[in-house]
Amino acid sequence: MPNPSRRDFLKRTAAVGALAALPGSARAATKRRSRPVAIATWKNRGALEAAWNVLVSGGYALDAVEAGLHIPEADPNDHSVGLGGRPDRDGRVTLDSCIMDERHRCGSVAAIEDILHPVSVARKVMEETPHVMLVGDGARQFALEQGFERTNLLTEQSEQEWREWIETNDYLPAINNERRDWPDDNHDTCGMIAIDSEGRLSGACTTSGWAYKLRGRVGDSPIIGAGLFVDGEIGAATATGHGEEMIRTAAAHTIVERMRGGLAPQEACQQAVEHLRRVTPTDPATIQAGLLALDEKGDFGGFALQRGFTYVVALPDSEREPSVKGEITGRVAVRGGTIYVVEAPYLLG
Ligand code: GLY
Repeated sequence: MPNPSRRDFLKRTAAVGALAALPGSARAATKRRSRPVAIATWKNRGALEAAWNVLVSGGYALDAVEAGLHIPEADPNDHSVGLGGRPDRDGRVTLDSCIMDERHRCGSVAAIEDILHPVSVARKVMEETPHVMLVGDGARQFALEQGFERTNLLTEQSEQEWREWIETNDYLPAINNERRDWPDDNHDTCGMIAIDSEGRLSGACTTSGWAYKLRGRVGDSPIIGAGLFVDGEIGAATATGHGEEMIRTAAAHTIVERMRGGLAPQEACQQAVEHLRRVTPTDPATIQAGLLALDEKGDFGGFALQRGFTYVVALPDSEREPSVKGEITGRVAVRGGTIYVVEAPYLLG
């Protein structure tokens, strides 16, 4: 049974969220037309196509990124997000996610368990509470109260791999232990940013985080300003890779602020990576950071610390082959547009 006082609190405070959800005069004043664009980390093509379908139907960028992230969250073969995500070192799948719209409204959940779609819980936090972030048991309790179902996210394959890992790895509390010998796909966080045909920017991020992390570890993906930041007047940015580095450099916020200062998305991402490399106390050769940005005109860019960061971008039909920094390694026609696969340029190597 939900605690009645908690229920009353949510009911009372829901009014705050509902009020904020109304189209305000400020939003009407800034309404503009735009070409829709969506961009996502890694080869999250299915996720991008789901988001694109919302955008080409004239939908809201916030709905697009949420619908997009549902795809990897429900995919048992994606071992870095949602169902089938690799557990922490205690064998528990804990998820981080956040979402942000064009008016600085944002919601986030960290270290949430047993819930298939943390991005939608994050949106509920944004819309139904006066808070930005809920964590752990409290986040799960909130999700269940909001009608989300309890789901076992630890698949047989993930459990078996975790059991093998326990046999072959030192169970040491030293965090550095987690940096050794990870497979290349250890980080497949799905971060997505989009602009819709009304010029509204939104973004969202979802991950099961660092495989076999210390219990309680939270990465950048639910941290507004680190894994994701959106300013409806300027642009949006999202990040993937070793979350600790994105947190220390407030990477997504840094990119948006550089765009505010006049940089194009591509240059803003590159400068954020260069800054990260300069300031990080971690050996840069042992970490990855992949950054994406999109501005209010629909221009985009991506840059990484190391070789191997791939991203996908969806653009309208009318567009000629986009000029991107990096290499286009694939393209697929989708309704009303094309999804391009891009190998991002990088700093090291
Ligand atoms: N970038 C995801 C994480 O570090 O958890």
